[in-house]
Amino acid sequence: MKNIVLIGFMGSGKSTIGRLLAQKLNYDFVDTDALVEAKTKQQIKDIFEKRGEPAFRQIEAQVVAEVAKAEGKVIACGGGVILNSKNIQALQKNGLIVYLKAEPEVLYGRVKGSEIRPLLNVPDPEARFYEIFSERCLHYEKAADLIIDITELKPSEIVRKITENLKHGKTHPNRRRFSRASQL
Ligand code: S3P
Repeated sequence: MKNIVLIGFMGSGKSTIGRLLAQKLNYDFVDTDALVEAKTKQQIKDIFEKRGEPAFRQIEAQVVAEVAKAEGKVIACGGGVILNSKNIQALQKNGLIVYLKAEPEVLYGRVKGSEIRPLLNVPDPEARFYEIFSERCLHYEKAADLIIDITELKPSEIVRKITENLKHGKTHPNRRRFSRASQL
């Protein structure tokens, strides 16, 4: 059984959708941020603060390498997982990558004021948010087998859309790897 890997920007609902999707498909659910926190026994904001972003990215990559070997899991990835091509290669080997795409205004509305997002803990979080968004949006698109525009959808509708697309093999036109539902 292949994994289903959820990617997307902060605030796109990867963990919420991931849990619901896992329930529906009877898969296990894992979240790379939670795995990093369990491994280090530290909160992500503390890892950023005390050890810096490069240290966080290194631990994140270890966690991704481990979880990518699993089977039959729904994996919600931290928003920056796509920055490292090795992460994506590992996840693609045994998984279908689903990008939860949304308008940046909607995403910013969801994450503004959040104290658990260290990347936005800067003097002008809004400017930083849009800067990171524009740096990353192509990475998400390129990594994805399936892109779901979640901007106007409720969680249950997003889950339904994902499962319907998977059933009908409607993945990204550039990717042929998951053209049959039987591969799930
Ligand atoms: C990050 C997103 C966060 C977390 C860390 C870095 C990012 O996860 O991994 O704060 O680089 O976008 P969420 O996408 O779950 O917020």
